[in-house]
Amino acid sequence: MSPALSEPIRVAVLISGAGSNMAALVERAEAPGAAYEVALVLSNIAGAAGLELASNKGIATALIEHRGFGKDRLAHERAIDEALRSAGIQVVALAGYMRVLTPWLVQAWQGRMINIHPSLLPLHPGLDTHARAIAAGDAEAGCSVHIVTEGVDEGPILGQARVDISDNETPESLAQKVKAVEHNLYPEVLSRFCQALSVEA
Ligand code: GRF
Repeated sequence: MSPALSEPIRVAVLISGAGSNMAALVERAEAPGAAYEVALVLSNIAGAAGLELASNKGIATALIEHRGFGKDRLAHERAIDEALRSAGIQVVALAGYMRVLTPWLVQAWQGRMINIHPSLLPLHPGLDTHARAIAAGDAEAGCSVHIVTEGVDEGPILGQARVDISDNETPESLAQKVKAVEHNLYPEVLSRFCQALSVEA
């Protein structure tokens, strides 16, 4: 089957906050001939700004708060998995989803779940990446899109974008610079990833 003729891949974007990357992914999906469509935006946080943004665009949204599940991470993830499957989702894009996933959900979506992380992995996995890059005296920072595996921020890297760290850089100014390049990189990589899946199908 020609990739140009195939249906766009159904993507779910998982968010916990502002959703600026999600918005960039949605924008790319609106372009003619896009390799994917954003079929669901799911959040674990009520009031996440990105949820409203998505529903204003007419995209299906789901709120599955981890709070409602107490310490039962698996039950929370089962609920997420069910929402993904009942929406016919083929690929999951984490975009500022601020919960570490258990191996169960990672395995359920193995090879079909990607994440964007605000550092040049393998440098600075985890939180506070910008402060850590500045403290380390790094000359440059950036972001990485990678396949999600059980080790946090450890999966195979699909793409990176770089920015310079200037002399008077603050974590806030660096965060802004990195976000700007994230918004180009993530849609680019997700498109490529979905094109490859369409060719495989
Ligand atoms: C981004 O910096 C992303 O790299 C990280 O979380 C942030 C999410 O920002 N994983 P936003 O909600 O997309 O604006």
